[in-house]
Amino acid sequence: MSGRRQVSGVQARGRVGLPPVRQRPDLPVRAHLTVSGWLLLWVVRPSWLWRREIAAVLLLAGVGVLGWWWRGWTGALVLPDAVVTVAVWVPWSRRWLIASWRRARLRRHWDRGCRFADLTTINDRIPRVRRDRQVPAGDRLLVRVPRGTTVGDLEDAAERIAATLRVREVRVARDGDRADLAHVDIVRRDPFVNPADPAVSEAIPWPWRHAGRVSLRDPIPVAVDEMGDVVYLRLEGKNILIGGEPEAGKSAALSLLLAAAALDPTARVWGWDAKRVELALWRPILERIVYGDIGAAIGQMEDLNAEMDGRYEHMEECGKRLFGPEDGPVILAAVDEMRFYTASPDRRESKRFNALGIDQTARGRAARIVGALATQKPSGDVVPTAWRDLIAYRWAMRCTTRDASDTILGAGMAAAGYDASLIDVRARGVGLLYAEGELPRRVKSFYLADDDIRAIVARGLELRRAGSARA
Ligand SMILES: Nc1ncnc2c1ncn2[C@@H]1O[C@H](COP(=O)(O)OP(=O)(O)OP(=O)(O)O)[C@@H](O)[C@H]1O
Ligand SMILES: [Mg+2]
Repeated sequence: MSGRRQVSGVQARGRVGLPPVRQRPDLPVRAHLTVSGWLLLWVVRPSWLWRREIAAVLLLAGVGVLGWWWRGWTGALVLPDAVVTVAVWVPWSRRWLIASWRRARLRRHWDRGCRFADLTTINDRIPRVRRDRQVPAGDRLLVRVPRGTTVGDLEDAAERIAATLRVREVRVARDGDRADLAHVDIVRRDPFVNPADPAVSEAIPWPWRHAGRVSLRDPIPVAVDEMGDVVYLRLEGKNILIGGEPEAGKSAALSLLLAAAALDPTARVWGWDAKRVELALWRPILERIVYGDIGAAIGQMEDLNAEMDGRYEHMEECGKRLFGPEDGPVILAAVDEMRFYTASPDRRESKRFNALGIDQTARGRAARIVGALATQKPSGDVVPTAWRDLIAYRWAMRCTTRDASDTILGAGMAAAGYDASLIDVRARGVGLLYAEGELPRRVKSFYLADDDIRAIVARGLELRRAGSARA
């Protein structure tokens, strides 16, 4: 228990006559209460929390008095009834009433949660909700902590608030710009579990599936997070590793990057598809493709590295440090079932492939060559750690073990609470997405059905044909 909290309990009793709120904030020990404390606890505080409801009742009472003055008792009964009926019947006022009631209830619950979690200051202040928004997982609040306390205190109390509110979890994140503001997520449900049938993973359509031309240099929508926000990845200058157990949704996630590349007529896409079928639908827009042939895979990786060297020579000639849009297109190098190449039975060939891959990932970023790598468990014996550690984006779909999750996200992530083995086995496409400089986020990838892919590929070909006809 921190010093601040102990002091707050003792001083609260002495100054305004309230008992230590830690024990029973709603049922104080009356013996300790002064008249002002009693009024504060039993009249002012509840009235403030119920102010909207009290205002509504007073308003209706006023309407009743008006009715009585107009038509006696008949008017006093009929006029308030009419007001209520109209308010409930008209859709926008009904929506407004429900939203106001929900908001007031949420704030009452928050008040209660904070008081039980011993977050009350000596002036009887608690972290105040400044904004709230309903999101698929529950509620997202912007909260301001009272003077003398920190967002860290709120963070420490998150578990107690969650228990009081009877929700799955309460997450607290400090605002980047202001130390007194916190973004609080009250997680009530798993938005990625299909309520109609938990065994069926509901697909979320990709927002760009009907898009015309897009650019691979723009942020690409790849998933939604638990708050319903779309998660974007900016691929330019980055590489991504997608890992997870079989059928977890790795190839489906990779498809989104391929789809963005398909709709960017300037982008070039090279594929390594050990299974032969994962990139099959993308074949028409792939500039180069190899299948389960390690020798051909090495050859194609050598060509990619030669292309990279060519780009660096060009940059040197032009006195540039970055390969810009005017210098040439982004190349997306998509490797599915990476393990086949990186841990092939012929160790000499795998070693060669890995050396080329590491070089490509290490030096390819400024040359605008983006590696998108998917594999089941990228442990050290499957993907060299020297390669894995160079990759900025890690996307861990469901894994069988904590260790497997850590091999994708990085050592210590599971212990810190980011463990992809805890993802529901039925939740296909759900994973932890870790982008450099941020904490991993639990997200669900968009999904492209085969027909969507065919339509996107056809549009991509059309865009390329139109581009070359203009040139
Ligand atoms: N985001 C998603 N939304 C809904 N369903 C999904 C999603 N991602 C994947 N699925 C379902 O999971 C199945 C397996 O996905 P996918 O082929 O991408 O898995 P994988 O991890 O690549 O498997 P493997 O390791 O066997 O190659 C898909 O056929 C699809 O039915
Ligand atoms: Mg796959």
